[in-house]
Amino acid sequence: MNRFAFASAADPVPAGYSTGPEMPADIAARDRLLDRAMGAAWRRKASEKLRRGRLPSLALVARDGAGRVFGTVRLWHVDAGGKPALLLGPLAVDPSFQGGGVGSALMRAAIVAAREGGHGAVLLMGDPEYYGRFGFSADRTGGLAMPGPFEKRRFLGLELRQGGLDCVVGVLRPTGVKVDASRRAA
Ligand SMILES: CC(C)(COP(=O)(O)OP(=O)(O)OC[C@H]1O[C@@H](n2cnc3c(N)ncnc32)[C@H](O)[C@@H]1OP(=O)(O)O)[C@@H](O)C(=O)NCCC(=O)NCCS
Repeated sequence: MNRFAFASAADPVPAGYSTGPEMPADIAARDRLLDRAMGAAWRRKASEKLRRGRLPSLALVARDGAGRVFGTVRLWHVDAGGKPALLLGPLAVDPSFQGGGVGSALMRAAIVAAREGGHGAVLLMGDPEYYGRFGFSADRTGGLAMPGPFEKRRFLGLELRQGGLDCVVGVLRPTGVKVDASRRAA
């Protein structure tokens, strides 16, 4: 089991499955998985405006024993009203494997990695009924907005450091490395 893998009696990851960093060879399978789990709509979400053309800060996948990708989560650098933060998403698990604790395993791995990376807060757009279990709430995001239509009750945040979302006001802006710049550097 690698450092991104989590399992407990209450939250089992199916035997033979693991979570770990996404590799370049996973990208096509990951996008097909997102289409299956979320439909094409994920490409049109307001969050996608903050992700398009940028490299993620962190990309994790869940893969089966044969290496096939069936879960994905990514985190992106953003400016949240003057404070650096990470925007999490999309999170998805292949419909055949939902309800097995894999989404939770990916969420916990992402949060641990963000904390270990010294980040102050994680933001996301999602159902509070799901993300509340990981500590996310709309309590600290009232002053923030997405660069497009969004539902306030689904705009959630988690402080990883005290004050990580203190006094944040403004529209989220992408701050991650641009894909073109990274290609030029390579
Ligand atoms: C959301 C998602 C990633 C969860 O992954 P998963 O592996 O099924 O999640 P887990 O097995 O860790 O947790 C399952 C629990 O979450 C609940 N859950 C899943 N999606 C939920 C939602 N949108 N709102 C409330 N609860 C939800 C399930 O009912 C289940 O509850 P239980 O533990 O009380 O039985 C997965 O369902 C998925 O890919 N959905 C489609 C893509 C999507 O909508 N992503 C964004 C979510 S806002």
